[in-house]
Amino acid sequence: MLRLLPWIALLALAGAGCHKKPDQDHGKATPAAGSVGTGAGAQGGPGAAGAAPPAAPLDLEDPKACAACHAAIVAEFTDSMHAQAHHELDPIYRAMRTLRIAKEGEQIPQACARCHTPRAVSAPDSELARAGVSCATCHNLAKVELSAEARGVEALRFAEPTMLRGPHDVAPGKAVVHGTGPAQPALADGTTVCLACHGEERNPQGLATCATGVEHAGDERSCTSCHMPEVPAPNGVAGTRPTHRSHAFLGPHRAWQHGDLSLFAEHLSVSGRFEGKRFIAVLHNRAAHSFPTGFPARLAMLAMTGFDAKGQQVWSNFAKDPLADHPDAVFGKGYVDAEGKPTLAPYAAKMARDHRLERNEQRELGVEVPPTVARVELALKLWLVAPLAAQKLSLTGPLTEPRVILKATATR
Ligand code: HEC
Ligand code: HEC
Ligand code: HEC
Ligand code: HEC
Ligand code: HEC
Repeated sequence: MLRLLPWIALLALAGAGCHKKPDQDHGKATPAAGSVGTGAGAQGGPGAAGAAPPAAPLDLEDPKACAACHAAIVAEFTDSMHAQAHHELDPIYRAMRTLRIAKEGEQIPQACARCHTPRAVSAPDSELARAGVSCATCHNLAKVELSAEARGVEALRFAEPTMLRGPHDVAPGKAVVHGTGPAQPALADGTTVCLACHGEERNPQGLATCATGVEHAGDERSCTSCHMPEVPAPNGVAGTRPTHRSHAFLGPHRAWQHGDLSLFAEHLSVSGRFEGKRFIAVLHNRAAHSFPTGFPARLAMLAMTGFDAKGQQVWSNFAKDPLADHPDAVFGKGYVDAEGKPTLAPYAAKMARDHRLERNEQRELGVEVPPTVARVELALKLWLVAPLAAQKLSLTGPLTEPRVILKATATR
């Protein structure tokens, strides 16, 4: 594990030597009430703000160690899927990893670790790996080298062990407990660092499975502009600006873990109108990539339910099997093996269906409805794991149940 240079450790210990117990010193380095929201420390880091460096040497690999000075960011990050990217913390990842180890062998853990625990690729079961896509993954960077072959850690060139750079130019020596330097361009542009892992992944047959970066190519909106919205508070006592960008990395899991639908509400919309005998549902994807993007087993469906003038349900677009009843209202990818049978993306020979919404796409779905229908309720549902995939992965429980991510009503 990477430790501080001895002289910094000495400095930290010297700070603990003024007739105080070490825990009191540590208390001093945690954000004092009031100092987080007020922007105290605007003239510099904790040195200027009066926060002492922690008594123990800073462990760059441990996100909790950053809380003394960057508390707001650590709290956000702890809730994020980057903090839960390890197999012991994410049941969906664990299920797929276990299945692939059984089918493909012992090289799988390291193959996955390239992106899920990139600071511990050769030791995916170590304590170090549990930190997942940790702070150091993105901040201890010298540069990011994107290429068609490099995936995750292969594209990330790490800097000398104590260096942590962000989106701003920070003078050397400013943080005392870790190195600082000029802005890291791969973070400052809001996209390059993300593409190291979210660019494109292919299965052993060479078929693209996740392709968020490819879907986004040519779009000027940065990944951080939507996934790291600005928070009106400094990043902690070390914050030198009144705002910082959220490290919760907003994504679909937040709907299951926190009931947070803000990302969907802001960039997707659904509405509907009657046209004679027909009802037209309108879906608009304003995200800078397809919907749903990323992990290929995600699935969305638009359920339409018709009510008569008395409020009785008289119609619905899905009766038994959505794919048979109203395939146009089912949004996802379908993978098949060499024989054409549905299979999980890693074992697929072909993508048989891609009915997702492209970026900026507005799609109309017209259906004939009975004349008695006076009102249609629309519900856009999302599955983290499509039912067939959940079955193949032996996954059950709340993570396999859909969530309604958007609703709308239209009356005749
Ligand atoms: C003892 C306090 C302290 C601790 C602990 C600490 N930092 Fe810092 N950090 C600072 C200060 C002070 C700055 C400089 C802030 C400035 O001038 O804007 C800084 C700057 C940074 C920057 C550059 C920010 C930017 O605006 O570009 C990053 C990234 C960073 N720290 C990451 C971390 C991480 C990751 C950890 C935990 C492994 C950590 N820090 C632990 C005090 C600390
Ligand atoms: C997946 C990559 C990633 C991870 C993981 C990550 N960061 Fe960041 N961080 C960023 C990006 C990108 C920015 C720049 C956002 C912006 O445009 O302002 C940033 C900005 C920062 C800043 C500057 C905030 C300011 O005041 O403007 C600090 C400090 C920081 N991160 C600390 C941390 C700490 C501490 C952790 C772990 C608890 C962490 N980061 C984890 C990508 C990451
Ligand atoms: C204009 C806003 C916007 C921008 C820019 C954007 N996204 Fe998204 N992203 C969304 C929305 C909305 C969702 C949720 C719907 C979905 O899954 O498509 C999402 C979902 C995601 C997910 C979750 C997929 C899943 O189900 O696990 C990932 C990962 C992601 N985006 C990565 C990126 C990356 C990487 C970039 C930059 C290359 C980026 N996004 C740019 C809006 C945006
Ligand atoms: C080192 C690889 C790596 C980098 C760099 C990285 N990510 Fe991720 N990201 C992951 C992994 C792995 C997951 C999935 C974790 C899981 O679900 O187990 C993930 C998940 C996500 C999600 C989905 C959250 C959810 O709720 O499902 C979003 C959004 C996201 N990342 C955005 C970003 C953005 C924005 C950046 C750039 C600032 C970035 N990531 C950089 C590896 C990375
Ligand atoms: C190129 C980087 C990369 C590699 C290598 C990688 N992943 Fe991922 N993985 C991601 C990213 C990024 C996500 C975030 C979700 C998304 O894009 O939708 C993710 C998400 C997942 C998810 C969905 C988790 C959830 O909670 O919804 C599973 C399952 C998964 N990966 C399994 C694996 C397995 C198993 C391996 C190894 C065989 C692996 N991944 C290798 C980047 C990678």
